[in-house]
Amino acid sequence: MMDLSAHPQPAEEASEQEGAEGALTGTEIIDLMLSVLSDGLDHPELWTQIPAFALLVPDFPQRLATRLDHERGERERLSLCLILAVTQAAAGMPHEMVAHLQPLAVGHSQSPLVQGALFHIHGLADPDNPKYRLEGKICPAPFVQLDVLERSTHQCCASWLQTSAGDLSVSDADAVWNSENAQAVRASVHDGSYRHCNKMACPKIQADDLAPAFEAARWSDAWRAIVEGALTALPTGPETVNLAYDRTCNLSCPSCRTEKWAADEETRVRFDEMQQRAILPLLKNARTVFVTGSGDPFASKNFRRLMTQLDAENYPDLRFQIMTNAMLFTPKQWEAFPTLHGRVKTMKISIDAATGPTHELLRRGARWPVMLENMAYAGKLRAAGLIEHVELVFTVQSENYREMGDAVTLMDQVGASGIYFARITNWGTFDDAGYARKAVFLPGHVEHGDFLTAMQDARLRRPEVILGDLHAFIDTPIEEHRSFAA
Ligand SMILES: C[S@@+](CC[C@H](N)C(=O)[O-])C[C@H]1O[C@@H](n2cnc3c(N)ncnc32)[C@H](O)[C@@H]1O
Ligand code: SF4
Ligand code: SF4
Repeated sequence: MMDLSAHPQPAEEASEQEGAEGALTGTEIIDLMLSVLSDGLDHPELWTQIPAFALLVPDFPQRLATRLDHERGERERLSLCLILAVTQAAAGMPHEMVAHLQPLAVGHSQSPLVQGALFHIHGLADPDNPKYRLEGKICPAPFVQLDVLERSTHQCCASWLQTSAGDLSVSDADAVWNSENAQAVRASVHDGSYRHCNKMACPKIQADDLAPAFEAARWSDAWRAIVEGALTALPTGPETVNLAYDRTCNLSCPSCRTEKWAADEETRVRFDEMQQRAILPLLKNARTVFVTGSGDPFASKNFRRLMTQLDAENYPDLRFQIMTNAMLFTPKQWEAFPTLHGRVKTMKISIDAATGPTHELLRRGARWPVMLENMAYAGKLRAAGLIEHVELVFTVQSENYREMGDAVTLMDQVGASGIYFARITNWGTFDDAGYARKAVFLPGHVEHGDFLTAMQDARLRRPEVILGDLHAFIDTPIEEHRSFAA
């Protein structure tokens, strides 16, 4: 990255000598900033230098505003808006700038650049909050995890980390695991920029749940080597493999898709080729396989075949994390998968509601009485020791936030061991206005006050409750807890 700090001139000098040899004009400084931001990633080192540039360039905010008036390029306009907002936030208006950026934040909910600028401004508004200081903290995910999508792979959940490490349908596992992009993501952890991460959406960042580097160095010899050597290329493959390439599902939840989808024959053959060639070898060294964040494990022929292939004899160290809508999770199905028995670390069951009408509205195609029965069956398997944890999952949105507390009670009733709450994000199924209506956790939402009240329900403070990216809405500190998936 270009080092902007190499160029500063004193303010008066810059104003008098604009264009003089060796000095940068205000226009050139703004051009440099735009070129730095053109990769669409976050650049916290630029945000922190903005006050210095505001001193250096006379009338900096006005220049930015004028440039914005004349700029036609969409990407450049976005960057100019962010630079202007950070400039004004740094000049003493962080709260106003958080509000000002809300429409942009909604329209670019998955952009690491926009969410990173917003994160920086939130940090200016709350300077004593340690969650806004990422330098010297380690997120383990990019060093241990690989999420496999249909044409890309990600070292974390793809909705928080969009950068792809490569395409397993055409590349070998080793080439992907240590690709240039994979190493760039790890480098951004080491340098503390986390520039590839969606900082406002990431639950670990929002919960200030990243380990100090000195602590990470003590986890194992391998981690000591990673931290002390700032390693980006790794000698061993991922510990956790998340299979998320098949979107086949028996439901069509509006948050996830606009219509029901199942892989056709040609796609199934392609997935099967990738499974046999790249996925099975990748899983030989893994300790956890996650099936699935993309569709439903019990609706997908590919995932069903893979689950039966992953037997204890050939994969003795492997444990399953199953994520399902549970509509197909009947005793008969459980019996069809002996490879799962006693080897499921966590079974995540998405509910998004604590009542039938809300569930059937948000989980299109589901039936609440069947869900109640199947959840209770999972609870029984947990009680029998055949599944270690059963975790309910609740994606918070305007239609269901009032049921959050009751969902904790439901967790007890069905014998689950935990419940995870997280914000709905826009997966492309809503237009901006539609998503804004759903996003009750955003300050501008008409029901935001009621949402804040719902968040203070005492049941949400129980240790079995994992609040992910909703943590900040709890008024007082809650007991320390970790996701079972951690
Ligand atoms: C896509 S589903 C795949 C696994 C399984 N079919 C299920 O529903 O649990 C994974 C999780 O994503 C959640 N989800 C769906 N749409 C979402 C959205 N727009 N934003 C955030 N999470 C979403 C679901 O509620 C579910 O908990
Ligand atoms: S910091 Fe968050 S978004 Fe980034 S890799 Fe870790 S968990 Fe993923
Ligand atoms: S059940 Fe899961 S994969 Fe299926 S549509 Fe709903 S959220 Fe998406």
